[in-house]
Amino acid sequence: MTQLAVEKPRRLQRVARTRRYLMCPPTHFDVVYSINPWMEPDKPVDGALAQLQWEGLLRAFHGLGHQVEFIEPLPGYPDMVFAANGATVIEGKVLSARFRHPERAAEGPAYLEWFRSRGYETRDAVFVNEGEGDYLHAGRYLLAGTGFRTDIRSHREAEKFFGMPVAGLRLVDPRFYHLDTALAVLDDDQIMYYPGAFAKESQGVLRVLYPDAVIATEADAEVFGLNAVSDGRHVLMPPAATHLMDELRERGYEPIGVELSELLKSGGSAKCCTLELRAARR
Ligand code: ARG
Repeated sequence: MTQLAVEKPRRLQRVARTRRYLMCPPTHFDVVYSINPWMEPDKPVDGALAQLQWEGLLRAFHGLGHQVEFIEPLPGYPDMVFAANGATVIEGKVLSARFRHPERAAEGPAYLEWFRSRGYETRDAVFVNEGEGDYLHAGRYLLAGTGFRTDIRSHREAEKFFGMPVAGLRLVDPRFYHLDTALAVLDDDQIMYYPGAFAKESQGVLRVLYPDAVIATEADAEVFGLNAVSDGRHVLMPPAATHLMDELRERGYEPIGVELSELLKSGGSAKCCTLELRAARR
């Protein structure tokens, strides 16, 4: 009898694409109000450590050859460091953010002005939406969160403005109040997510769209392992998400731990601090 050698599937070599990001220095970062379950205003925040950790993320981006732009932080807006919430940028088109809570309201116009003054095509959003906190661009689809922050009516607004299909996803666990705390885009057709953060129907949608997705455990999600930034190969994420890092290595990605424990006190990590500036296609 001839024995057929069972070949182990070869590990894919993932390809990184150079990105442009917008970041906001944590000059005024603090936790002085609570708009998500992670925020405890009585717990002290070490501002100097937050600054060092944020610089570590910036250094990691530069080290990978990515370009980073900056927006001036506004005094009195301690959450402005979370640049992901500032807007959604796809092919050079910018949908402004409109925040759910009055504590963050002024950030929307500040980010919008940054884009306007640089000549981007902008739309001043009609409906509440928290930028890339709830809108994640994944190849052909725009994945869109709702349930805690972004108004479901915003999904239609985004679909029309960007001219791309939106897949609406309902978040149900208050710890994972933004889509980017429960799901991360790894490349144009791969994601990782924690199913427990989503309503049953949305879990079904994700299974159909991404049958081969990387599935995170609750423990991964709790340490904000899904609040990750991927360039298609390198995945910047909290080092505590050890199981998720192993899964990513298994799939040929290169996870890189970036400690942002001070920012976690406000319910944010690497992805929250990063807004991708996707240029118009030439
Ligand atoms: N304290 C901020 C808030 O609750 C954290 C935002 C985190 N940003 C994100 N993209 N998930 O609004």
